[in-house]
Amino acid sequence: MLSVKQISKHFGDKIVLEDISLEIAEGEFVSLIGPSGSGKTTLFNLIGGLLMPDGGEIWKNEDNITNTTGHISYMPQQASLFPWRTILQNVLIGQELQGRKEEGLAKEMLQKAGLGEVIHSYPHELSGGMKQRASFIRALLSPQSFLCLDEPFSALDEFTRLDMQKWLLHIWEDNQQSILFITHSIDEALFLSDKIVVLSAGPAKVKRVFEVPFARPRDEKILLSEEFLKWKRMVLEEVQR
Ligand SMILES: Nc1ncnc2c1ncn2[C@@H]1O[C@H](COP(=O)(O)OP(=O)(O)O)[C@@H](O)[C@H]1O
Ligand SMILES: [Mg+2]
Repeated sequence: MLSVKQISKHFGDKIVLEDISLEIAEGEFVSLIGPSGSGKTTLFNLIGGLLMPDGGEIWKNEDNITNTTGHISYMPQQASLFPWRTILQNVLIGQELQGRKEEGLAKEMLQKAGLGEVIHSYPHELSGGMKQRASFIRALLSPQSFLCLDEPFSALDEFTRLDMQKWLLHIWEDNQQSILFITHSIDEALFLSDKIVVLSAGPAKVKRVFEVPFARPRDEKILLSEEFLKWKRMVLEEVQR
């Protein structure tokens, strides 16, 4: 269980987050939706221990992990691959730091993400979308069981995006990792998540938490169902309220 407890954060005289609490249970897929600039990335940086909150705490099970790094696997909004490492070396770095290497699995995942041809290339040789996919696989391969993904598919076209969503669901259903997922897309949040947390803007507060009812494993057919549309309307109304 990852618990965000009454977190607040300001930059200068701007209060960005105010009294944010949320929980991600073991194996749960939670999406965070909120207007751009509302503090989603800031919240991720706080959870990842890269920032110190003004108030509140982050707990992972029985440990207070506030302002400490290394407890969660984190995919930043801007793909931050090491320019001097090949794509394969980049995605293996989390495992390397733990002294183990599953090169076969890494290659298989790169292949499935359409990166099979570029595993020995360097980041500058890849498009933005490809770098994002590589960065995403690096997060999936790292040993921590909690993944924080900051708009991992935002640079992808709609078709690649749906493919990646299905692929992520598949991996997640197999591995039962806990995921906190930032997105702008209500469709994406509904298709993927168990829970959707809607944030308000400036300062960000938790407006509402939706429990998504669709059965698993999920099929893309639900994207066109009446039920899906009904939920989309409900979440949209909450976002715009
Ligand atoms: N290091 C920083 N210093 C000053 N202001 C920041 C910093 N990081 C983020 N902000 C501000 O905090 C607000 C929330 O940013 P961010 O968390 O990136 O939003 P989101 O990811 O929801 O789009 C923005 O107004 C942004 O300008
Ligand atoms: Mg952001």
